[in-house]
Amino acid sequence: MKPVVSVTHPFPDVALERLAPHCELRTNPTDTLPTAEDLKRAAGESTALIIYLSDRIGPDIIEAGKNLKIIANYGAGFNNIDVAAARRRNVWVTNTPGVLQETTADLTWAMILGSARRIVPADRYTREGKFKGWSAGLFLGTDVYGKTLGVIGCGEIGSAVARRARGFEMRVLYHQRHRLPVEKEKRLNATYVSLEELLRESDYVTLHVPLSEETRYLIGRKQIERMKPGAFLIHTARGQVVDDRALVEALREKRLAGAALDVYENEPDLTEGMTDLDNLMLLPHIGSASTETREKMALLVAENVLDALADQTPRSLVPAWSG
Ligand code: DGY
Repeated sequence: MKPVVSVTHPFPDVALERLAPHCELRTNPTDTLPTAEDLKRAAGESTALIIYLSDRIGPDIIEAGKNLKIIANYGAGFNNIDVAAARRRNVWVTNTPGVLQETTADLTWAMILGSARRIVPADRYTREGKFKGWSAGLFLGTDVYGKTLGVIGCGEIGSAVARRARGFEMRVLYHQRHRLPVEKEKRLNATYVSLEELLRESDYVTLHVPLSEETRYLIGRKQIERMKPGAFLIHTARGQVVDDRALVEALREKRLAGAALDVYENEPDLTEGMTDLDNLMLLPHIGSASTETREKMALLVAENVLDALADQTPRSLVPAWSG
């Protein structure tokens, strides 16, 4: 009998084809969200569970997985999984590092430039037929070139964002728990500073930390107040890193010039007032959403599952599993 591999949501064909000869595949090609009960049942029937980052995998689901060897997350962030509970039951947890940083960095830059130059409201204005001819004061934005970029969390994605700042001749500051090796700082042309200094000095602050107890509400009311007046906040990490209500207030009062969010504190719900703000760009968590990258991510998920089916340690175990 072949091992059962359950895929909780739509998944690219290339990766399903890679898996198919090695297992009995149970797929869910619909957009219907699996309930906690569905996930529990799937865990109970499967050797491998391929999940989306929107699937919450708590101890009860892991407990139900009597023959479960691996939970393979289709994404880099894995705060949706109780990794400690999985580890206690010797269930491997994997994610997709190393394949999505460039795509997510591209989106981050689209958000920086889009916010600075007010691209979304300007598009709306034009398509609504309001453009009646050139005017010197129309949609004045803010420069990006030569400004200061503050990168909070300079891992794979943060580094890829910092690297792109060279073309804009920006000063790059970064902050995270540990300083990077000097060689890497030089390559990125980035200077390590405290969070306070970064917030005080940066024209564009971009967030790339994983969600953990340490980073939950890392950017709260106090931190937003410390940001340079007229600065922008760009967020493609995990919603709960930012206090969305405090952000809405700062944008409403124009203390910040703008912000762009790809993730939300109560995702997928938006915080009240967000949709009224013209200086806030709202995206539906599409950081790594390019066709090429989604395929790479899915193939990596498939390889992790095949490793586990062959009783080999999967190639991209999440750091918290072994750490
Ligand atoms: C991830 O992989 O964690 C991203 O948020 C997906 O876009």
